[in-house]
Amino acid sequence: MATFRPGDPAAVTDLFEQIAPRYDQLNDLLSLGLHRLWKRQALLWIGPRPGQQLLDLCCGTGDLALLLAERVRPAGSVLGVDAAAAPLALARQRAERRSWLPLRWLQADVLATGLPAASADGAVMAYGLRNLADPAAGLAELHRLLRPGARAAVLDFNRPDPASAAGRRSAALQRQLLRRVVVPVASRAGLREHYAYLEQSLERFPTGSVQESLARGAGFSQARHRPLAGGLMGLLQLVA
Ligand SMILES: C[S@@+](CC[C@H](N)C(=O)[O-])C[C@H]1O[C@@H](n2cnc3c(N)ncnc32)[C@H](O)[C@@H]1O
Repeated sequence: MATFRPGDPAAVTDLFEQIAPRYDQLNDLLSLGLHRLWKRQALLWIGPRPGQQLLDLCCGTGDLALLLAERVRPAGSVLGVDAAAAPLALARQRAERRSWLPLRWLQADVLATGLPAASADGAVMAYGLRNLADPAAGLAELHRLLRPGARAAVLDFNRPDPASAAGRRSAALQRQLLRRVVVPVASRAGLREHYAYLEQSLERFPTGSVQESLARGAGFSQARHRPLAGGLMGLLQLVA
């Protein structure tokens, strides 16, 4: 059985190539549809407006890119970037069914997109930062791509702070949910190792306050991490 090492870009891309056909269905099932609400929170922070050029980094099958694209018409556009071909192919199919939306797609590592600096009016990254080889480098690249004053939203699992009792309780609950619900459900789809990766990737993911410091170090003028879903998820709200 394959194991997927967090921080290894080839292994991570491989993982998402393999789960792509079941990804949306499992997301709805495992979050009871709540991932849509959390994504809306990211969208609210960005406040997309007609005419803007926006980025969805680690776009996967394109949930956020599609939502953003509805709001930047006319004249604006959204570029979805992902390293894996299979989720991008699904994103393209979804976009083809709504061909009026101003969407483009790029297969690339978000740590090296080759996109021009200060070219985006806003960006989202949902469940992407935790998967990067170097989250600090991811924040630096995100900052490089944004115009001064532009907003970014980074949504992901929250890594509770082990220094506090509340953080330790939250981490224990998260572990139980992952081990007793997420992994067993994913196992039925033949994706045990793929979803066991979630807990491993969280172990190397910075806490909210460390993410705030990393973001300020990357040049963001404002960085605020908000726990969502009782601390299971987190939204890093950024201003370049
Ligand atoms: C958990 S999925 C999230 C997809 C989507 N943003 C969502 O929330 O539904 C993570 C995505 O990040 C992509 N990814 C991981 N590492 C990446 C990297 N270094 N560069 C670009 N995409 C990456 C994966 O291929 C995958 O599609």
